[in-house]
Amino acid sequence: MTAMNREEIESLQRQIVAEIAGASDGSTLEAARVKYLGRKGVVTALMSSLKEAAPAERPELGRLLNALKQAVQDALDTRRKQLDNVSSAASESFDFTLPGEWREIGMAHPIHALIERATEIFRSIGFTVADGPDIETVRNNFDALNTPEDHPSRDPSDTFYLENGDLLRCQTSPVQVRYMEAHPPPVRIIAPGRCYRRDTPDATHSANFHQIEGLYVDRQVSLADLKGDLTYFARQLFGPGVRIRFRPHFFPFTEPSVEVDASCHVCGGQGCRVCKESGWIEIAGAGMVHPNVFRAVGYERHQVVGYAFGMGIERMAMILFGVPDIRLLYENDLRYLRQFASGV
Ligand code: DAH
Repeated sequence: MTAMNREEIESLQRQIVAEIAGASDGSTLEAARVKYLGRKGVVTALMSSLKEAAPAERPELGRLLNALKQAVQDALDTRRKQLDNVSSAASESFDFTLPGEWREIGMAHPIHALIERATEIFRSIGFTVADGPDIETVRNNFDALNTPEDHPSRDPSDTFYLENGDLLRCQTSPVQVRYMEAHPPPVRIIAPGRCYRRDTPDATHSANFHQIEGLYVDRQVSLADLKGDLTYFARQLFGPGVRIRFRPHFFPFTEPSVEVDASCHVCGGQGCRVCKESGWIEIAGAGMVHPNVFRAVGYERHQVVGYAFGMGIERMAMILFGVPDIRLLYENDLRYLRQFASGV
């Protein structure tokens, strides 16, 4: 490259800057960069020809060439920014003719929705929520609940035992024990939670299900309170006309013990498919807390009485939502579960 004079350099600069400003896209611009500033580029070559110039001209020529290089670089940067803005503006433009994409709206699982609703109802009559761990001791799950040594529910064919001798609780009742050991009376709690039993899954059994435990302990508590509170609960949940009945039963931790039925909210007690023609739906096991339970938790000195109950959530969900098979609640098929999006 032969040495150039000032006019030639300035004219070259105008020409290159104009070419770059007219580059129509990114690749044309990149080609121009390589052509002028690349290792073998025109401007690069001019810079290296500087050493061949007469020593007297070098400072002036060097200054001009530096200015040229800088001007080319500036022109490249400016054009690059312009092209980037254009392309991002294009991607931001909105095509109103494209079909829309629905976003999934989350919903509560029916089991969760029912626990929430039940909690709300019991809260409204003064209950607070307690909980306990899924892994329990034999003592809390059985011994302190007055369960005889030979009770079938203790059998490893009914209850899951861990290697260290603990177990997966087969009921929420151990929360009664935990709560009373940690709090003096009066007590008015519910405890919703997960339970485990060695049941073979079928339409009405799952090895993993939920209960809501209830416990009310004070100076004066009777079966009539139990009946009144459960009637209120059932009417809030199922509807205003619902009635409650008690049937005698046996549980180790209550005396007397009852099973609690609500009149069928679908047929009003006439008999239908939902209540299997009986007019009644079982909603809970319950009773007056056994003195041995109070003894186990150190409550005998308080001279209190109490009622307790335990409800099966899945059973109630199946009745309320008309679910024919308990497994449908656990398969997590959204096509099925979505039907209950409106909750309880
Ligand atoms: N734990 C019992 C069960 O799983 C249910 C139950 C019955 C709980 C009576 C209670 C009760 O608190 O008083 O079958």
